[in-house]
Amino acid sequence: MIVTAAHPQAVPDASAHAEPAGPAAKPLQIMPLPSHAEQQQGSFGIDGNFAIAFEGYNEPRLARAGERMLTVLARETGIPLDRHSSAGKPSFFIHTTGPSEHVQRLGEDESYRLEITAAAVHLTAPNPLGILHGMQTFLQLGTISPQGFTVPAVIVDDHPRFPWRGLMIDVSRHFQPIEVIKRNLDGMEAVKLNVFHWHLSDNQGFRVESPKYPGLQQKGSAGLYYSQAEVREVIAYARDRGIRVVPEFDMPGHATAWFVAYPELASASGPYAIETRWGVFDPAMDPTRQATYTFIDSLIGEMAALFPDAYFHIGGDECNGKQWDASPAIQSFMHEHAIANNAALQAYFTRRVQQIVARHGKTMEGWDEVLNPGTPQDVVIQSWRGAQSLADAARGGYRGLLSAGYYIDLGLPAADHYAPDPLGGDAARLTPEQQARILGGEATMWSEFTTPENIDSRIWPRTAAIAERLWSPQSVTDVQSMYDRLAVVSHKLEYYGLQHRTSYTAMLGRMTGGADITALRVLGDVVEPVKGYTRGSLKNYDSATPLNRLVDAVPPESDVARRFRILVDHITAGSATAEEWRQAREWLTLWHDNDPELQPQLAQSELTQELIPLSASLSRVAADGLTALDLLAARKSPAPEWQRSELSFLKASEAPQGVLLNMIAPSVHRLLDKLQQPG
Ligand code: ACM
Repeated sequence: MIVTAAHPQAVPDASAHAEPAGPAAKPLQIMPLPSHAEQQQGSFGIDGNFAIAFEGYNEPRLARAGERMLTVLARETGIPLDRHSSAGKPSFFIHTTGPSEHVQRLGEDESYRLEITAAAVHLTAPNPLGILHGMQTFLQLGTISPQGFTVPAVIVDDHPRFPWRGLMIDVSRHFQPIEVIKRNLDGMEAVKLNVFHWHLSDNQGFRVESPKYPGLQQKGSAGLYYSQAEVREVIAYARDRGIRVVPEFDMPGHATAWFVAYPELASASGPYAIETRWGVFDPAMDPTRQATYTFIDSLIGEMAALFPDAYFHIGGDECNGKQWDASPAIQSFMHEHAIANNAALQAYFTRRVQQIVARHGKTMEGWDEVLNPGTPQDVVIQSWRGAQSLADAARGGYRGLLSAGYYIDLGLPAADHYAPDPLGGDAARLTPEQQARILGGEATMWSEFTTPENIDSRIWPRTAAIAERLWSPQSVTDVQSMYDRLAVVSHKLEYYGLQHRTSYTAMLGRMTGGADITALRVLGDVVEPVKGYTRGSLKNYDSATPLNRLVDAVPPESDVARRFRILVDHITAGSATAEEWRQAREWLTLWHDNDPELQPQLAQSELTQELIPLSASLSRVAADGLTALDLLAARKSPAPEWQRSELSFLKASEAPQGVLLNMIAPSVHRLLDKLQQPG
């Protein structure tokens, strides 16, 4: 019997603010929310007898997926479900109609139906892709309850909104070993992302073995690259999880690492060294020499055979053309061929590379710089400089992906990534035919400040919000609901082996040399790394700089500061409850009292000395907040001198301190602004 409507956000056409229909309607803790769900009465219990049965079409990948589900469930519950035993009578029935494509194809059916009752679970799908997704939905629904580990009864009918839901990882600026890639593929599977875009080459490293041009990895990677066997292993691992792997070899710019061994590819004579700094650099391939295309043809042939996916990314971004301007040979080529400027020269290069990519049986993809008059229509445009290029591309007959707004390296809150929609902005005005060319989007993990140690916390949990944007109905937009479910997903991802939470405490432990991290964590919990691209302008960094400071350890988004901001919203609006006032005072007192505890410890470690002024400043910010709360509660005016001096102090505290932001200061500033004007 259906006792309640689905969680309102789970229904595509329901208002996000509608009240649940009945008292039992606890929102489903799923991310991404399914396209359709109906909650039922009761729950399915998970105990040591839990067992799975496969019906219909079968293949080894399904059995492996079942074992993986049991492993995660065993970790989460502590119940030894992953042991091999025939004790259990199956209660989880998986019915698969038929196979999926041998090489996973864009736009394959990923739908599934999951029916959970108190007695049994039935998961059905046209092919294994839907089964994989349905298993993740089941895992997300499990929770500890007074009755043990249970899964609420529900009927889910689900399919994705967009067929291309990706995560790009840059392994050039900081190399990421295979195990890091694998655990992040596990995270992608958990939130139903289906494309791993592997940014394999850039100025700072060429990261894959090329038997044809071994100088690429031998001289261009400092020894940090993947063997072809390792690449195959990752591709198989991804396929097991319903994830395509699209390689990117960035050209004609962002290619210095190629030139270390093959300087003749560049537009100026060498020698070249692997780039160690961050930014945009001048070296670029020479688009006027046939030898350049012969090399590219041979390399793409080799890589097209290694990577089975139908799509092949050639980058194309940020070529500044300075080497082209400075080369008399290139200038005379442009003159002879009536190529008017560098954009036209890059378009010429793009056309020739596209022909090579097509000859090797692949569809080319490039960053939005490749969108030029004359660019072949089957090139897929990845929009990063702004969403407008996506709408422009779709109008011009090109297919495209949105990444503008999904740059998770910029350290922005999950809400900022949750808002941009591939069919938002100008794309909302496209015809249905044009809109159908918008395939989805990709989160991008550029790795200037990302190491194997902290990469998980830069990707998760915020990427789950992007995954929801790309999977769930467009009407799913409630930010509070997103944050509530993001917290659940973040916790669950730990059972998949992701280290986005544990790396934080481990890194704090390094900073204190094993001493108690409690006080350092109080500070870390309310600061964030500076936003956007500012970090590189505040301090000198290169690829050898240790990323072992507080800025590298703390999550990009402070959950405590976000919750404090909501308390301050309520207090300044006059709607805060007594409990909210108490919570605000308790936090401010904690932050105020932390400094005397922390100061002596900070001085003991070279990694934390720089935090001494920040800790003192947090203490004073908190003291201001406590004074403001007292005055607000008593409806008293502040002393004018005090208010003037503290407002100016708070303003200064909102600016970057070193490379960190005090995320409490803006909220305390708002409390002071709210105080009655004296007199
Ligand atoms: C890019 O961020 N340069 C594509």
